[in-house]
Amino acid sequence: LAQAEVDLSGIPEGKGLIVKWRGKPLFVRHRTDEEVDDMLSTPMEDLRDPQHDSERASEPKWLVLIGVCTHLGCVPISHAGDFNGYFCPCHGSHYDASGRIRKGPAPLNLEVPPYEIDGDNLVVG
Ligand code: FES
Repeated sequence: LAQAEVDLSGIPEGKGLIVKWRGKPLFVRHRTDEEVDDMLSTPMEDLRDPQHDSERASEPKWLVLIGVCTHLGCVPISHAGDFNGYFCPCHGSHYDASGRIRKGPAPLNLEVPPYEIDGDNLVVG
């Protein structure tokens, strides 16, 4: 399937889910206000692959990512790691709640796929 559709109304704040998109895991996360504030205020100089959160999450409450570690392609664990974002257990990469790489061997942020949100409906691809 070229596109994935997700009903966002079933995902409570602070939780997420994983669906398949083009053979890859797609992470959809309903961020808390605290996570959003934190991610919007992260200093750019703290980032290895500097990108403001607003470039990554067009609707701040919703984070949509391709769940493939940018090191060697393992699938990270959600709501884990030193930055309570994503943790890749293969070699210990820590991503924040914007999917940005913060620690460990991965060189780049988790990829954000093309998507649109219309009300409670997320369409990816
Ligand atoms: Fe994720 Fe190596 S594949 S840290």
